[in-house]
Amino acid sequence: MSSDLRELTVLAERGEQETILGASKGSEEPLAVWTCPDPVLMTDTARIGALAPGLRDAVHALYGTYPRTVRYDGVEVAWSPMRYPRVWCPSIDTVFFARALKRYAADARSVAEIGCGSGFLTKYALTHGGSITRAVASDINLDALACARDALAGLAHRASVSLVCPQPDDPTVGFAGAFDVMFCNPPYIPRPGERNDNPYEGLDLIAKLARQGRSLLTERGVLLLNISSLSGPEPERWLADEGWTVRELERLRVPLKVNAVTSGVTPESRAWLAYLRERGIVSGGEGYEFWHDLRMLECSPAHTD
Ligand SMILES: C[S@@+](CC[C@H](N)C(=O)[O-])C[C@H]1O[C@@H](n2cnc3c(N)ncnc32)[C@H](O)[C@@H]1O
Repeated sequence: MSSDLRELTVLAERGEQETILGASKGSEEPLAVWTCPDPVLMTDTARIGALAPGLRDAVHALYGTYPRTVRYDGVEVAWSPMRYPRVWCPSIDTVFFARALKRYAADARSVAEIGCGSGFLTKYALTHGGSITRAVASDINLDALACARDALAGLAHRASVSLVCPQPDDPTVGFAGAFDVMFCNPPYIPRPGERNDNPYEGLDLIAKLARQGRSLLTERGVLLLNISSLSGPEPERWLADEGWTVRELERLRVPLKVNAVTSGVTPESRAWLAYLRERGIVSGGEGYEFWHDLRMLECSPAHTD
């Protein structure tokens, strides 16, 4: 992904050049196979499906080989669904987040990421935050922490890094401290029954951060949060109720492409879609039935001085 998010290029490594693309001897240099302008997804199946058949099938095959390495602005993370099951692969929202995170990381001495998934954003913060001496990354999924550990291995930095695995039903975020920047790309799609159902989905983590985030910040610390237009009015209401000042930094319109929500194949997915439609928060077009806006928020505790 280019640094300005204007181009996504699918590259084939040496082995893939030989096994998928027919090269008798692949080159060490990755081969650019397809460039997607103004990407709105990391895996844009609609645009891939519209390519000439030969190229379409080659790109499709490359997406099907693992590990997949996602590179953005000097940071890369390798991910595979077999090695790290149910771990969020760096996605369009991850790089959208990274772009906003960069200048905050540059000034920070301490950072904490809640819900680190593959570890991409923590690695990004450590790479671009030369003054960071303390970092915490948490996730309720141990496989995510394994992916983050592997992503951070070998990275040159000055920080002491802790990986934390809170229980999903822990009423706290699972660690303590005072951080200059806390950041979280949380689950952001509301769903019926979220609080007593699947902790990987719904808005519960956002509510928890609204309640507790302030106690984990240094005096001038900020919380960076990505939410979605699908999240509805609740996140900003919770943040306002807890005394946060919220500023929207950036917005990006992207398709909603979460199979568990959009497949329409299972009763659960159909119920979820019906629930979202009832909230009046989905609309269609351009190869995808539903779109939503990613919204990067800077949340600052109100100061009493
Ligand atoms: C949308 S993914 C984002 C992953 C990664 N930060 C990224 O941007 O690519 C949300 C992550 O939050 C984690 N998560 C959900 N609830 C959590 C909680 N209460 N505490 C810590 N992590 C949580 C999930 O396991 C998942 O890895």
